[in-house]
Amino acid sequence: MERVNKILNNKKYLSYMKAIDHMEKNRVFCRHNIEHCLAAARIALLLSYEENLDVPKELIYAAALLHDIGRAEAEKDHREISGELAEDILTDCGFNKDEICEIKYAIACHGDDTTAKENSFRGIFYRADKLSRNCFMCSAKGECYWAEDKKNSYLKV
Ligand SMILES: [Fe+2]
Ligand SMILES: [Fe+2]
Repeated sequence: MERVNKILNNKKYLSYMKAIDHMEKNRVFCRHNIEHCLAAARIALLLSYEENLDVPKELIYAAALLHDIGRAEAEKDHREISGELAEDILTDCGFNKDEICEIKYAIACHGDDTTAKENSFRGIFYRADKLSRNCFMCSAKGECYWAEDKKNSYLKV
């Protein structure tokens, strides 16, 4: 996990995460902080084992840490921007071209409903991103834009 720890110490990464924390400090809905990223990583890793995908841990954690950084520049369509910003950081942290391509693909698809049921890296990552949200305990649940059937109104294991 050496390269993932490099991401956590990467100056550009830290500046994007700090900007998001600042932008979201009064946000009543789910935030896109390190807790969200790590929850998504852990759930994606579990799903990868459960679904016999064996996606390398470092790819899962890298995608999870970086998937929302585009929000530092634009909330809407942040996925594409996250991928662009991630490429630079991933290169700095020693990921090769093929790995970067896989990670960027998972990042780009994390809002694409059509990938939700896929038995693939992007499929488990899509689900992990959503499963990381504790809608059942959220005080803003009533105003949240997520469709009722998408919300985690109970624990899904
Ligand atoms: Fe996102
Ligand atoms: Fe997310």
